Amino acid sequence: LTNGLGLTPPMGWNSWNHFGCDIEEKMIRETADAIVSTGLSKLGYEYVNLDDCWAEISRDEKGYLMPKNSTFPSGIKALADYVHSKGLKLGIYSDAGYFTCSKRMPGSLGHEEQDAKTFAEWGIDYLKYDNCHNDGSKPTVRYPVMTRALRKAGRPIFFSLCEWGDLHPAEWGYHVGNSWRTTNDIRDTWDSMISRADQNEIYASYARPGGWNDPDMLEIGNGGMTKDEYIVHFSLWAISKAPLLLGCDIRNMTKDTVEIITNKEVIAVNQDSYGVQAKKVRSQGDEETWAAPLSGDRIAVILLNKGPVRTSVTAHWDDLGLHPSTLVEARDLWEHKTLKTQFMSNITATLSSHACKFYVLKPVA
Ligand code: GLA
Repeated sequence: LTNGLGLTPPMGWNSWNHFGCDIEEKMIRETADAIVSTGLSKLGYEYVNLDDCWAEISRDEKGYLMPKNSTFPSGIKALADYVHSKGLKLGIYSDAGYFTCSKRMPGSLGHEEQDAKTFAEWGIDYLKYDNCHNDGSKPTVRYPVMTRALRKAGRPIFFSLCEWGDLHPAEWGYHVGNSWRTTNDIRDTWDSMISRADQNEIYASYARPGGWNDPDMLEIGNGGMTKDEYIVHFSLWAISKAPLLLGCDIRNMTKDTVEIITNKEVIAVNQDSYGVQAKKVRSQGDEETWAAPLSGDRIAVILLNKGPVRTSVTAHWDDLGLHPSTLVEARDLWEHKTLKTQFMSNITATLSSHACKFYVLKPVA
């Protein structure tokens, strides 16, 4: 969408993966505090996004959405002011149907202009727009109504389409929103994470500054995967130019979680000015190579072992669009080391089960 937002993939946090409907204002404020105190905000994490369940089940007598009094007694405007005072941005959630997916609050169908105006007045910076309990008409009809309403409301609001990929939103999403879900919901397991990455990869050529494929939010720190698996998760999302929306409890993170989500070199690949999403350039059984061009004549490459046993994986220059005689320097983004050896025609790594290497390659002049 050409609203000036999402020129690089959005970064921040969303309440759903860890907390589900169990959200309230104190916890959201503490999360904002923690995003700053842990140094995450300095790395680019800026959105604090409420997901489902922030509102009362009914609108007020004039049709306005009402923040749930038992959990958000100070209201959303006060929360936005607080989040803004920390230098962060506040995101909210609604639905292009009559109810949200939890069925615990109303959707915006038929109230698009009223709700967009409300969000703008509250100081909202990001809207995730779900697709549950709709009237059966196409998302290509219902979503643009909110796009126009947001434009009319006059505040720049990142517009995240959550249509789950049913109607191939990559093909029309750029005219409607700043990102679009390409998959149904992620779970905190290896298989779920890998299959989201794969389904999202199909649409790589549609991603660009202002409009990104969204394979769903991060599960790092929620406990269902090993450290190596979470490293694969973060690496694949980064190279795929996916939104980096954390989904754990930021107030209580382990050292491993912090180490993964604060890797500046991996974040820099995600936020690279080229904005080109990686493609799977080779796949042989459980061994895969993912690659994306980066600014400065560099290439981001992931070597991935999806299998149950240790194996070696090779990236061939042919797969990366390099002439086989090109001499290449390799930066290992998880070891934070530029390798002493320079490489010609290919690079190989031996990887344990469910592990990856993440390199930035640069031809040596
Ligand atoms: C859908 C979305 C999820 C989450 C829930 C909330 O399932 O895909 O990301 O927002 O609704 O109910």
